[in-house]
Amino acid sequence: MTHDPSSGPSTVAVVLAAGKGTRMRSDLPKVLHEAAGKPLLDWVLETASEAGCDRRLAVIGHRGDDVVQAFSDQDVEWVVQEQQLGTGHALAQAESVVGREDLLVVLSGDVPLVKAATLKRLVEAARSGWGAMVVADLDPPGSLGRVLVDDEGNLAGIVEAADANPEELAVTMINAGIYALPAGEIFDALRQLSTENSQGEFYLTDAVTAQAAAGRRVALVHLEAPQEALGVNTRLELASVDEVLMDRCRRRWMERGVTMVSPASIRIDPGVMIGEDCYLHPNVTLSGSTTLDTGVTVHQGGWLRNTRVGASSEILPYSVLDGAEVASNCKVGPFARLRPGAVLGEGAKVGNFVEVKNSRLGAGAKASHLTYLGDAVVGDGANIGAGVVTCNYDGTAKHRTEIGPGAFVGSDTMLVAPVRVGAEATTGAGSVITKDVPDRALAVGRARQRNIADWSGRVRPAVPSNEGSNGSSEEK
Ligand code: UD1
Ligand code: MG
Repeated sequence: MTHDPSSGPSTVAVVLAAGKGTRMRSDLPKVLHEAAGKPLLDWVLETASEAGCDRRLAVIGHRGDDVVQAFSDQDVEWVVQEQQLGTGHALAQAESVVGREDLLVVLSGDVPLVKAATLKRLVEAARSGWGAMVVADLDPPGSLGRVLVDDEGNLAGIVEAADANPEELAVTMINAGIYALPAGEIFDALRQLSTENSQGEFYLTDAVTAQAAAGRRVALVHLEAPQEALGVNTRLELASVDEVLMDRCRRRWMERGVTMVSPASIRIDPGVMIGEDCYLHPNVTLSGSTTLDTGVTVHQGGWLRNTRVGASSEILPYSVLDGAEVASNCKVGPFARLRPGAVLGEGAKVGNFVEVKNSRLGAGAKASHLTYLGDAVVGDGANIGAGVVTCNYDGTAKHRTEIGPGAFVGSDTMLVAPVRVGAEATTGAGSVITKDVPDRALAVGRARQRNIADWSGRVRPAVPSNEGSNGSSEEK
């Protein structure tokens, strides 16, 4: 999106996200680290949209190309800060792309818990004065900037922990690093900044304080839940933030009618949809674009990615479903694996240790035990016995297997593809099927059984008898 200056003043979210995140000890830019299923920066940008910001800008630097790439499907304007000289310097990079009359909502790419409602309050507060900033009471205040106020409660200064004296360090009102500021005046103030502080950086906080000192009203918007101000500088903080976001997500689904057993052990990505009366057992993971229709139960340890499950289906414990489509009233698992392209029709059943890839099972079809179905079409109501394998790969190419409706594939049948088992046809247990089986026929493809009399005692010693040993067993 490009800015059209004729469209009047806008509310522009500017996310400062150029930092290297040295304390993460990572090759990945800090804002690309994921919490609760998406990058930190994504959470901040989403909140900016939810709060009604007209435009979204992000200031990037360290491995900026990777950041741009990660958001290629989103409407974000990028501003590059070549050298990371501080938060004031970072914001100054946006000057050429915003209007002087715009209101800037300044956010940090590493502070992802802030809520849209807070940003709305912030914008309102800024509009009724000169600008506004988010503060919170945090004890201990840690490494965050301390907010100093005068006798009337007006902003008197913001001191970084690294620059603070003991008295200032004891202050528990902290700067969340989130502001609403009139663009023209804050850019003018940023030009006056110096780097005379312990970190040798241009501090945005100094520009805000200078405006307050010049008599402009900077409203302090207090967070009721100081948690919103949590930032991510380390992997430990990343884990804490992830937990808060996951908790919010689970609560939302519970409010919408989903039951969770041991909710803290359940993970749900932002792109997931869950119908009413779904029942999630402990240690379930739902990721990507997974969709559960109403009344679906996912038992312990279920792992579902980009999978659709129809109403009232049941996913039994420890099943892995990836890119699968399961119709309603199906049963999958325990210990089943549905790989991409697995499609189960209404009421189909896939049991334990069954793997299905790029295969369609018709309504009511069953593969209950120890089976591999790859590149196959299984007709309605067909029964696949234990241990059946579609031998779909000849070392070079994949081939298809077709099993007609109502067919009965005997246990341990090897279906050497390409091959077709006709409608209502049967294969004998242990058969190797290399030729098509006509509808309703029985195919037996195995060596005929031969019994050799008195085998024991000739080649294999006879079973030792207990006679003469008083029934006591000898140690061997
Ligand atoms: C900043 C505030 C501090 C506040 C805290 C809240 C200043 C001087 N201090 O401190 O008062 O309590 O945030 O979390 O503003 N960034 C850039 N370019 C730079 C430097 C930083 O884009 O040159 C970005 C970082 O990627 C980060 C954000 O700005 O997303 C904040 O920078 P950071 O270095 O983390 O500042 P803090 O020390 O946390
Ligand atoms: Mg920080």
